[in-house]
Amino acid sequence: MAKTVSFPEGTQVPCHVGVIMDGNGRWAKKRGLPRKFGHREGAKTFREITRHAKRCGISYITYYAFSTENWKRPKDEVDAIMELFEKYLDEVRDFIEENIRVRFIGDRTMLSENLQRKMASVEEDSKDFDSMTLVLAINYGGQDDIVHSCRQLAEMVKKGELEPEDITADMLESRLYTEDIPPCDLVIRPSGEQRLSNFLIWQAAYAEFYYTNILWPDFKGEDLEKAVIAYSERNRRFGGV
Ligand code: FPP
Repeated sequence: MAKTVSFPEGTQVPCHVGVIMDGNGRWAKKRGLPRKFGHREGAKTFREITRHAKRCGISYITYYAFSTENWKRPKDEVDAIMELFEKYLDEVRDFIEENIRVRFIGDRTMLSENLQRKMASVEEDSKDFDSMTLVLAINYGGQDDIVHSCRQLAEMVKKGELEPEDITADMLESRLYTEDIPPCDLVIRPSGEQRLSNFLIWQAAYAEFYYTNILWPDFKGEDLEKAVIAYSERNRRFGGV
């Protein structure tokens, strides 16, 4: 499946898109259903949008699937989300057939051993694929990401391998969970909320933001295309004039 979406001439497709899959709970509530049904629909949207991102020519797409703060949710909701990960990790194998590399970011040590094993095997089996990279942020927090990187630098200082004044932004960046993933260009947040919520806070330092009132389970390929066009119409200055 090659790039098949044709955008207006001159459209700049973002290289790396981050997605905050918000609004699953409200989608279910509107229908009088338990929240976990919203996550189930949200997972279907994730599958559709990933395929559509590839058609749009997006090179990296990162989804905020579970944050370091999401453990505070009721246990049955957390369990339902974890079950969906297990199910979709099997389905993600279909992405492998589409030449999509799969990567996970976040602290996996808190996840079940089975899930960790599956994550490692999907990453290993897809590591050489290059049509697009799908990144799943699971037990991920932007602050935790920075702390995790700083700890590695602190270890080097402790061993006498590095002087504190020699620490650079590049050194910190190359130790983030996203070490092999470029900065985020565009963050999409559906459901009407306008916050970053501890997602890719370092990597999205210069990202453009696109908000929409659509709830994540209702988000369609055409909404992704609208976000790409809105991004392309922005004037990115990276701190310049
Ligand atoms: C936010 O909506 C959504 C989450 C915290 C979970 C997202 C998880 C999935 C879509 C499940 C499967 C994912 C994959 C990658 C297979 P919310 O619950 O905060 O919605 P609300 O704001 O309406 O309550």
